[in-house]
Amino acid sequence: MSIPECLNLDDIEQAATQKISRKAWGYYYSAGDDLISKTLNNTVYQNILLRPRIFVDCTNCDTSTTFLGHKVSVPFFVSPAAMARLAHPDGEHGIAEACAKYGAMQLISNNASQTPEQVVAGAQPGQVFGWQLYVQTDRKKSEDMLARIQKLPAVKFICLTLDAPVPGKREHDERTKNVASNLPVRSAVMGDGSPSAASTTPEPESSGGVGKALFAGTAPDLTWKTTLPWLAKHTNLPIVLKGLQTHEDAYLASLHAPQVKGIILSNHGGRAADTAPPAVHTLLEIRKYCPSVLDRIEVWVDGGIRRGTDVVKALALGAKGVGLGRAPLFGLGAGGREGVERVLEILKAETETAMRLLGVGRVSELGLRHVNARKVERD
Ligand code: FNR
Repeated sequence: MSIPECLNLDDIEQAATQKISRKAWGYYYSAGDDLISKTLNNTVYQNILLRPRIFVDCTNCDTSTTFLGHKVSVPFFVSPAAMARLAHPDGEHGIAEACAKYGAMQLISNNASQTPEQVVAGAQPGQVFGWQLYVQTDRKKSEDMLARIQKLPAVKFICLTLDAPVPGKREHDERTKNVASNLPVRSAVMGDGSPSAASTTPEPESSGGVGKALFAGTAPDLTWKTTLPWLAKHTNLPIVLKGLQTHEDAYLASLHAPQVKGIILSNHGGRAADTAPPAVHTLLEIRKYCPSVLDRIEVWVDGGIRRGTDVVKALALGAKGVGLGRAPLFGLGAGGREGVERVLEILKAETETAMRLLGVGRVSELGLRHVNARKVERD
């Protein structure tokens, strides 16, 4: 299927599946154990109903919003995802160019296959990036990276991922480990520090898959008490915590405002603890037990977003932003930068249509009255 023939994100995934290597597919598609969280991510939005209103002028529709005070054109963003060059040589920089075209925010993975400097090179004025950190056992490596990031004005915040101190057991990834490939399996910055290392380092035979190889230096000993003070010492950028899966942790995070400015409710696309809840469940828990969190910090969600209606439902439930993990990677696989542009184009158009059909002209107008989430609340 050609890129223009792709009408939705499933089409894009299929187109990519036909083009990318088995290794890339195994790494991107994979999730923990039995893929239960991944499957739930993909189906949970189907169990939330929309409540469209009539007699509302929907001539104009504005999908723009702000993330941490920065203006963006769409309420969805690119979540951090490692190794984009496994899909296509355009890599994370290709994603950045597509984001520039659609005014979308991009989070750059700690394990990106290009350096942060390469990814943001040529960023448009006003283009917004975050940089995602996996704290390394060798703290000096992370401290050096934080110092580098501080020099990139386009990067507006640090996103600290906390749901994967170790990778989940991802069997699709493990099964494709021995497929011959000259593609990169180390992050551009965590290899030997030189961007070129990323394109030449072969996957170690014993890696058990790309995921395990990438996680080799990741620290498993992070705590509320020690990690945030350490991070605050090494960056003055705002901090967003990613991978929260309970209302208790969301509440604890909110107690760290204003140092912590936002959280991303996420089960890592089902790639960490299998049977962990989809973000929407955690969002509903927050609404029930500690709604003040939504006023104190920005709450974003990711996992399983396939349609503009999914975006609109998450926003109506109180999320300020909605992340996409696999979709941009599959866009890259389907057609490089153009494939990612198509992903963003499709989702923007679908989001606009969903807003108009609901009777909503601006993102800020979306609220609880636009959804019926009773079926999910009962779970
Ligand atoms: C990820 N994710 C991820 N998260 C993170 O904080 N740092 C990372 O390096 C990665 N790497 C990564 C690689 C791949 C191939 C995938 C699929 C995912 C998780 C990602 O940010 C996001 O939480 C999920 O992918 C969202 O789910 P969907 O949109 O893929 O369903």
